Amino acid sequence: MISSILEKIGNTPLVRIREIGKEFKNVEIYAKCEFFNPGGSVKDRPAHRMILEGIKAGQLTPGKTIMDPTSGNTGIAYAMIGAALGYPVELVVPGNVSERRKEVALAFGAKLTFSSEMEGSDGAIRLAKKLKEEDPEKYFMPDQYNNPFNPRAHQDTTAAEIWNQTGGRVTHFVTGIGTSGTVMGTGRGLKAFNPKVQVYAVEPANPLHGLEGLKHMASSIVPGIYDENELDGKFPIETEPAWDLSERLAKEEGIFVGHSSGANLLGALEVASRIKEGVVVTIFTDSGDRYFAGLG
Ligand SMILES: Cc1ncc(COP(=O)(O)O)c(C=O)c1O
Repeated sequence: MISSILEKIGNTPLVRIREIGKEFKNVEIYAKCEFFNPGGSVKDRPAHRMILEGIKAGQLTPGKTIMDPTSGNTGIAYAMIGAALGYPVELVVPGNVSERRKEVALAFGAKLTFSSEMEGSDGAIRLAKKLKEEDPEKYFMPDQYNNPFNPRAHQDTTAAEIWNQTGGRVTHFVTGIGTSGTVMGTGRGLKAFNPKVQVYAVEPANPLHGLEGLKHMASSIVPGIYDENELDGKFPIETEPAWDLSERLAKEEGIFVGHSSGANLLGALEVASRIKEGVVVTIFTDSGDRYFAGLG
């Protein structure tokens, strides 16, 4: 028995990918299945940590609303955690986020404020800043793009789990950039265990892409928590092969995940193709059913 659903955040399974990439004989590929978190995505960890640190610092007090720009999954995490802790949640999301994510956030009781579809996640960032400036006392804005506790959550938990689950054998880590919290924090944590671990980021090849949750850095507001110097490299990923790979994952591995997980696995395969042997770990950020439009 547990006293709060929030206790189930983290400690997600690390699953071997057996079929896809089996041509890379001496390379093992593993995926950290973050859709096992109670909010259904990799964002439960940083959302929970940023909220707890906000309470600790006296910035989030009873009656304040948790408000942040989010492409969807962080919003669902805030909505779930806000509900569990008793804080109202207001999410600023681009008008074109998937219906499913909107419905899930609404089911947790969050209020949604829409920014322009044309401006993507950057439009949501600008609108959230404006709302906070207009009414600073009303809101606690975790500011996931600039909050050091976003990567720190991954450094302290995701990295430690991967290290333990691979018995310290992990050689490469690769994952996509949204806020960059996952790649920066997990990368930092793994390199602290073993400086030889190589860390790669995956990003959409073009500014206009269909990989929800991921950011094309060159054409975006660069997150304050992002530091490219800490990475060993970056792979540009096209939308279509990433979508195809997420479909193959369901059919060939029995793992039904969203498109950014397909992009992440493409990155892992790219790493696998460049090395003779190794243990490559990536992240499966969320479940494929989050991309169905509604239930009816
Ligand atoms: C589906 C999906 N994939 C990947 C990411 C990227 O994670 P991060 O923000 O840690 O870079 C996100 C972030 O919101 C996401 O929603």
